[in-house]
Amino acid sequence: MAQGLNFPDKFLWGTATSAYQVEGNTRNNQWWDFEQQPGAIWHNDKSGLACDWWRNAEQDFDRMQQLHLNAHRLSIEWSRVEPEPGVFDHRALDRYREMLGGLRARGLEPMVSLYHFTNPRWLEARGGWENAETIIRFQNYARTTVKALGDLCQTWLTVNEPLVYLAQSWFRGIWPPLKQDFLAALPVFRHLLYAHAAAYQTIHACQPHAQVGYASAFRLFSGLRPDHPMDHFAAELKRYLFDHLWIWATVDGKIRPPLGVGQYYPPLANSFDFIGINYYTRDLVRFSPNPLTLFGNEQFSPDAELSDNGRDGPYSEYYPEGLYQLCREMQQFGKPIYITENGLPDRDDDQRPRWLLAHLHQLHRAIEAGCDVRGYFHWTLVDNFEWHEGWNLRFGLFALNPATQLRTARASAHLYGAIAEQNGISQELCAKFAPKLADKIFSAGAAD
Ligand code: GAL
Repeated sequence: MAQGLNFPDKFLWGTATSAYQVEGNTRNNQWWDFEQQPGAIWHNDKSGLACDWWRNAEQDFDRMQQLHLNAHRLSIEWSRVEPEPGVFDHRALDRYREMLGGLRARGLEPMVSLYHFTNPRWLEARGGWENAETIIRFQNYARTTVKALGDLCQTWLTVNEPLVYLAQSWFRGIWPPLKQDFLAALPVFRHLLYAHAAAYQTIHACQPHAQVGYASAFRLFSGLRPDHPMDHFAAELKRYLFDHLWIWATVDGKIRPPLGVGQYYPPLANSFDFIGINYYTRDLVRFSPNPLTLFGNEQFSPDAELSDNGRDGPYSEYYPEGLYQLCREMQQFGKPIYITENGLPDRDDDQRPRWLLAHLHQLHRAIEAGCDVRGYFHWTLVDNFEWHEGWNLRFGLFALNPATQLRTARASAHLYGAIAEQNGISQELCAKFAPKLADKIFSAGAAD
C-alpha cells in the first residue's frame, strides 16, 4: 500500500459473537427464564430466533468470507452441551463441530469461548456461581468440549468478562440472579477465578499446544475533576477491582483483598497464554461518600461524542486512545494480545466507520510501539440480542430485521471488508470514510 497503516502478517481480522445472542431458541438456561419476566428486557423483547445460527450460522460465515475476514470468535452454549447434570449431548457437540469446520473451510480461524454469561437451568437452580461445586462442573464441561472440538480449534477463552457478569448480576442487579449484594459477589468472583484456572489446566492437558486465555472487559476509570484527589481515589479503586484484580491473580496466583489476604493459589499463576481485551469505553468517576457506589459515580466526559442510547443513557464515549493505552499497559505481561471485542451501538451507522478507523489507528500505534497484537475481533457481524437491552442496541456491521431475518450491509461492513482485504488502512480508504481523521493521521508530520 502506498501510504497507509499496515498491520503485521497473519494478523487476524474477525468478528465476535456469543451463543445466546445469535443461536436462537436457547431455552435451557437462566437468560431464557429471565426474558419471560415482564420488564426484564427492553420493550419485553425476546431473543426468539436471534440470528438463527443454531440452524444456519453458515449463511453468516459466507458473509464473513465475502468480507475477506480470516477469523471469528464464538462461544459454546453450556446448556446445549450439558442439558442435564453430567449428561452430555453429542448431537449438540456435532453441531458445533459442523460450525467450526464450516469456519475453517472458509479460511476463518476459530477462537472459542467456553463461558459467556449463560448458565444451564439446572446449574442456576443449584446456586450457579455462588456454589463452589460449579468449579468442578465447569471443568468437566470444558474437558468434554475440548476433547470433542480440539482438533478444530487452537485458541480457547475460558470465561468472558467475569467482572461484567459480577457487576450486572450482583452489584447493579439488572441481570439474573438480580442481586445487589457485594458480599455474595466475592465468592462468585473466587469461583470464577478457580474455574478459569481449572479449565486452563484441563485444556492444556487435553490439547498441549492450545492457546488459552480469557476475555476481560476494561473500562479505564479515571478521576473526573483533575484537582479532586477523592475522584482519583475512587477511580483507582474501581480500576483495581474491575480492571486489575482478576488479571493480577492470573499472573502471580495471589488472591488479593477483598477476595483474600494474598494467599498463593498455584494453579492460577501464569494461567493465560495471551491477553484478551474487550474495550468499548472509558468512564470518568466523581467521588461519592456512599460505599454502595464503591465511592464514586461514573459518567462520560462532558464534551465527549457519545454512541446510541441504551436504557440508562448513552452506551459509550468516543475515546479511541483507550485502546492504545490498554495495549501499552498489557505489554508488561509479555504475552500476545488479541482485541477480543470492540465496537459500538450505532443503528444508522453514522459513527461506526469513523470510530472503527480511529480505534484501528490507535491499535496500529500500539503495534508500532512494540505491542504484540495478533488480531482484532469486531463486535459484531450482525445485530444480535443485546442482553437486557434486547434489540435496542445495534452493534452489527449488518443490520438485522429479527422478524424476517433479513440482513442489510451497513457501510461499515464494506469498510471492514476492505481493511481485512488490505490487511491495513490505506489513506484513500480512510479519506473515503472519515476525511477529517485521514487528514489527522496522514498529514505530513502528524504526531502519530
Ligand atoms: C460485552 C459482551 C457482549 C456484548 C457486548 C456489547 O460486554 O461480552 O456479549 O453484549 O458487550 O454490549
